[in-house]
Amino acid sequence: MKTALVCGAGGFIGGHLVKKLKSEGFWVRGIDLKPNEFAASAANEFIIGDLTNPVVVADVLNKPFDEVYQLAADMGGAGYIFTGENDANVMHNSALVNLNIAELSVKAGVKKLFYSSSACIYPAYNQNDPDNPNCAEHSAYPAAPDSDYGWEKLFSERMFLAYSRNYGLNVRIARFHNIFGPEGTWTGGKEKVPAALCRKIAEAEDRGQIEVWGDGKQTRSFLYIDECLEGVRRLMQSDFEGPVNIGSEEMVSVNQLAHMIAAIAGKEIHIHNIPGPEGVRGRRSDNKLIYEKLKWAPSVPLKDGLAKTYAWINAQVKVKVDQPTYI
Ligand code: NAD
Ligand code: GDD
Repeated sequence: MKTALVCGAGGFIGGHLVKKLKSEGFWVRGIDLKPNEFAASAANEFIIGDLTNPVVVADVLNKPFDEVYQLAADMGGAGYIFTGENDANVMHNSALVNLNIAELSVKAGVKKLFYSSSACIYPAYNQNDPDNPNCAEHSAYPAAPDSDYGWEKLFSERMFLAYSRNYGLNVRIARFHNIFGPEGTWTGGKEKVPAALCRKIAEAEDRGQIEVWGDGKQTRSFLYIDECLEGVRRLMQSDFEGPVNIGSEEMVSVNQLAHMIAAIAGKEIHIHNIPGPEGVRGRRSDNKLIYEKLKWAPSVPLKDGLAKTYAWINAQVKVKVDQPTYI
């Protein structure tokens, strides 16, 4: 039986990845600082541990895993990574985790390692035009990410590639573009715009108003969790090291996204655009390379994933509203 370790298994993508690996017949160990928030983990073993501690990392790698998935990171949406308040913690935590995992994976004889990088590594100067952003993989340099979160991801990409060249660590690197779906963070400050707008619309009355940060003309592309995992598994099974984009090419403005969700909810919603942390003006996955290397690229329409995500977040909102308050 093939074995896998999922680092960050208590998070959104990690939790779903554990389920997928189990359904494919893997024996899975998960590790995270915390358990999954919304469902019990499907992992065979789930360890609560801090991967910034090399002793913990050496211990969790005490089997010669066939595959290791490194998803653990300090991460959040625009309200978390663009305010500047979390930069030192994001860089310190995520860099230490990645340094430990690279070094100790070589020592432990890990056969193949996946690293989740981000679209946030792309230079801000190529993402000023909301209608025509450039996120082709080769455009990453000269580097100018617009957040320290993006700089850490770029550093860690390079570090894993250096371990590949110098120590033969067999790595695969993907740059995720705004992944969304059920069981993702939807409240509390770390949520990304698909979940934030689903929540705001679920909480709004019909013909009510919601607040959207910025002028709403900034653009993004969003990828549903199932297609993200399909891309990850295909990359792991291929000979291509990456880095490669895993994202959708279907780009919408943030106000358009709000209208799409309102239509799914069956509500008429008035959008009030307010100042807020915005990040780049435009961003969209460029899928030429993934298609060339894997003969596959995401293709499911955005509205399909939004419908499943809205239904889940709407149910979470209802549970919260229905909860009795004890005094
Ligand atoms: P998430 O925040 O839900 O999951 C990350 C998990 O890592 C969390 O459960 C957290 O507790 C854990 N973690 C953080 N520091 C740790 C430590 N020191 N030791 C052990 N566990 C630790 O985020 P996600 O959306 O599931 O993202 C997974 C990965 O994909 C991250 O590396 C993220 O940067 C990357 N990524 C995600 C997106 C996206 O849109 N979701 C986009 C680009 C890149
Ligand atoms: N989060 C959030 N909440 N964003 C909002 C809101 C809101 O209520 N209203 C409008 N927005 C706008 C933000 O201002 C930003 O311009 C845009 O929606 C997208 O915001 P996010 O989804 O939070 O983040 P992002 O796309 O800029 O970056 C995310 O994706 C990267 C990968 O593509 C982050 O999650 C990064 O960590 C990730 O790496």
